[in-house]
Amino acid sequence: MSKAANRLCIDGGRLWQSLMTMAEIGATAKGGVCRLALSETDRDGRRLFAEWAEAAGCRLSIDGIGNMFAHCAGRDDSLAPVLVGSHLDSQPTGGKFDGAYGVLSGLEVVRALQDAGIETLRPIEIVNWTNEEGSRFAPAMMGSGTYSGALALEEVLAQEESGGGQTVAEALTEHGLAGDAPVGERTPHAYFEAHIEQGPILEAEGHTIGIVTAIQGLRWFDCRVEGMEAHAGPMPMPARKDALLAASRLVERVNAIALEHAPDGRGTVGEFRISPDSRNVIPGSVHLGIDMRHPDADALAAMAAALRVAYDDLEGYGGTLNEIWYSPPTLFDPTCVAAVRNAADALGASYREITSGAGHDAKYMADICPSAMVFIPCRDGISHNEIESAEPEHATVGVDVLLLAVLEKAQEPG
Ligand code: GLV
Ligand code: MN
Ligand code: MN
Repeated sequence: MSKAANRLCIDGGRLWQSLMTMAEIGATAKGGVCRLALSETDRDGRRLFAEWAEAAGCRLSIDGIGNMFAHCAGRDDSLAPVLVGSHLDSQPTGGKFDGAYGVLSGLEVVRALQDAGIETLRPIEIVNWTNEEGSRFAPAMMGSGTYSGALALEEVLAQEESGGGQTVAEALTEHGLAGDAPVGERTPHAYFEAHIEQGPILEAEGHTIGIVTAIQGLRWFDCRVEGMEAHAGPMPMPARKDALLAASRLVERVNAIALEHAPDGRGTVGEFRISPDSRNVIPGSVHLGIDMRHPDADALAAMAAALRVAYDDLEGYGGTLNEIWYSPPTLFDPTCVAAVRNAADALGASYREITSGAGHDAKYMADICPSAMVFIPCRDGISHNEIESAEPEHATVGVDVLLLAVLEKAQEPG
């Protein structure tokens, strides 16, 4: 199917306008967004999405964890839908595109099909997954993980926010974000997710499209290092049990372990909370939130084992090291990957195959239905940062590719 022949393409200006309007919700002074999962700003983003989806003729349903589904009827509405979307929640200092691009891409696909007067055989559903980021509530990809059955709904609802506060259930209730649809009610026919790459490869190689064939594995750990609080003045240096000093050694080790598994290993301590956090008190306790990743499951297991050794080596300190989440490496479905490649070929887009460094809701969907992803470049590979940026032209081509891939799957008979 050639673009020139049938003119089936999306409205790039409308897509960009939607992205910029969504980015006004939770906008930060540095040009990014803060729409933490299940917060007021997340609620406002959801409302705007619901308004747009209903204006596009979709029927909205919301499940018990707050996942939103905008149903665009097919000619045979009894068939399983093609699901397309991502997430509207963000990091505390997030950008305009991480997640929102995928949800609004789904919306643009539906709008473009309507403009072209095309009714697909299967329904298409646009999804906004709850708490993809995992920043406020761990783990990440909570909505899709619950939908797929990998995470237990009751446990997820009881999860307390990082650093203490509301549970997921309380936050859902406060903002009226849970619906009555059962979680994981239907298995989709296929799932597609468009996203910025969040890394530097496409930009460096001059490609517009990444055909995502896999997602690397990740392991998250909660670690607490316990020392002994004491006065910063009188306590002699040799007599101290400074929890921050010991925690700092672990930070160095996490980095070193990732480097020992170069070039693919990744190790980050992204959360660090000192207690009591007072200048003239020797730190008694430190919380570390640790993230380790590798595309190879065995290498990732070796990294986790090395972290355990490093923790056990902190002699004289107490604490805990708990693995709170394991997301194994994921391979996407060949037929969905082929649909993305066919679309990129048809459009003459410059592309390469790529493994995702970031986790995505597509990971959990791949466990239950054929799935794939479309990447576009982001400037300097920067994401999870308010300066995150993408080119309008790339955003448009990404959704043009998505549209054709969705269309291919949405015309498949039951
Ligand atoms: C999700 O955004 C992750 O990769 O941590
Ligand atoms: Mn994302
Ligand atoms: Mn993210």
